[in-house]
Amino acid sequence: MENLFRLVDQDQDFFQPKWTLVNGPIIVGAGPSGLAAAACLKEQGVPFVVVERADCIASLWQKRTYDRLKLHLPKQFCQLPKLPFPEDYPEYPTKRQFIEYLESYAKHFDINPKFNECVQSARYDETSGFWRVKTLVSTGSNKTEFEYICRWLIVATGENAESVMPDIEGLSEFGGDVIHACDYKSGEKFKGQKVLVVGCGNSGMEVSLDLCNHNASPSMVVRSSVHVLPREIFGKSTFELAVSMMKWLPLWLVDKLMLILAWLVLGNTEKYGLKRPSTGPLELKNTKGKTPVLDIGALEKIRSGDINVVPGIKRFSRGQVELVNGEKLEIDSVVLATGYRSNVPSWLEEGEFFGKNGYPKAQFPQGWKGKAGLYAAGFTRRGLSGASSDAMRIAHDIGTVWKEENKQLKKRTIARHRRCISLSQF
Ligand SMILES: Cc1cc2nc3c(=O)[nH]c(=O)nc-3n(C[C@H](O)[C@H](O)[C@H](O)COP(=O)(O)OP(=O)(O)OC[C@H]3O[C@@H](n4cnc5c(N)ncnc54)[C@H](O)[C@@H]3O)c2cc1C
Ligand SMILES: NC(=O)c1ccc[n+]([C@@H]2O[C@H](COP(=O)([O-])OP(=O)(O)OC[C@H]3O[C@@H](n4cnc5c(N)ncnc54)[C@H](OP(=O)(O)O)[C@@H]3O)[C@@H](O)[C@H]2O)c1
Repeated sequence: MENLFRLVDQDQDFFQPKWTLVNGPIIVGAGPSGLAAAACLKEQGVPFVVVERADCIASLWQKRTYDRLKLHLPKQFCQLPKLPFPEDYPEYPTKRQFIEYLESYAKHFDINPKFNECVQSARYDETSGFWRVKTLVSTGSNKTEFEYICRWLIVATGENAESVMPDIEGLSEFGGDVIHACDYKSGEKFKGQKVLVVGCGNSGMEVSLDLCNHNASPSMVVRSSVHVLPREIFGKSTFELAVSMMKWLPLWLVDKLMLILAWLVLGNTEKYGLKRPSTGPLELKNTKGKTPVLDIGALEKIRSGDINVVPGIKRFSRGQVELVNGEKLEIDSVVLATGYRSNVPSWLEEGEFFGKNGYPKAQFPQGWKGKAGLYAAGFTRRGLSGASSDAMRIAHDIGTVWKEENKQLKKRTIARHRRCISLSQF
């Protein structure tokens, strides 16, 4: 008996519940997609629980993006359902403004995620017809396991959950600073340095531009090809223009027109080492998920030679990089702007709806609903506008079942009351 008391004493969590049954869905991730799904469910009157591994909402935006970041698309394509951006926001809100908007969004819809709780596994239990979602809860240095049991599971962990760290020969011997773009804040600390930026997506281009603006000398690695488009064409957002054209014209024709317009505005980008892919920008985005670069000034720095475009990397050695063309560059630091990936396969025990790459197998607009109450929000490769459309569809789907079941439940309760009343009259 004494031993038992000692055991209870040592384990302060002994009386803490280790699992709970959730009335409604579990939403994994409190980024824009998770928040949008939560807000839409709230409107349908469906209760939910949001679980988030970080200690804040929109952790990608708050903790893993650089200071000068602005939305690349006009604000009307980036606002979440049911609450527009404040009217005084500029056409392209800054990162800070976007975060403030998301915070007011969460407050407006009274969304209170469970922070510091990372989902470790989720599996559907066929016998009970419930999802079993296991999490690791961090309280200071203390970690405890918890389990949610629920009928619906909404995956909103994002297309950019983990950073891609390439395995390049000799990188461990390089000796200087090596960071991923998700840890890059500003070029301030690279002043006067020669920096190798690996990758030429939107991150690589913007990090290179920022380094120039802070008197560093960036060399940007372009190992294959890239579509660079102007952010605006003759005063109109390129994205908006493409969306309008897509209403009337086939995708291949819109792609051709976009490339002609890009050439008129930017000229031939190939002569600066930026080879264009053979597939058009929209088709490439749809089929491979590769986002075109929307230029916001890097191209000008490439033309002027402030950003040095270099081919792929052969290997690193101490303080140096050797390129595939045999050229060797002395460098001080490396920024890996090598992209991101989904982390769904690492925790979701399911192989029918989600593919090995962590995206739903079915393409937009089909990839939001799986079987047995499984949903995906924010995996459309269409940024924030895709996340919003997923959220509305999911909430409507769950809301319909929820209301129907509640109606049935009420009917049954009234019938039982009536039976009780009529019985008590005898
Ligand atoms: C630098 C950068 C700039 C971008 N700019 C734009 C833009 O201008 N316009 C646009 O439309 N898109 C942009 N994007 C794309 C961006 O992914 C979306 O805008 C948006 O953040 C997607 O929201 P999300 O909620 O789907 O994913 P995220 O914002 O990534 O949120 C997912 C959340 O899930 C949490 N999570 C992950 N795994 C777990 C787990 N196992 N357990 C619990 N929680 C977990 C994460 O901590 C995170 O908070 C940008 C992306 C990057 C990297
Ligand atoms: N303001 C904005 O809106 C903004 C800003 C930044 C990012 N974003 C978004 O965030 C998402 C991620 O963008 P991102 O630029 O971080 O990633 P990304 O678009 O996936 O680009 C990754 C880049 O890294 C290169 N790369 C990967 N491994 C490499 C290696 N071993 N050697 C050389 N190059 C390598 C890729 O080359 P290959 O093409 O040859 O594979 C590609 O150029 C995108 O959706 C993007 O639009 C938006």
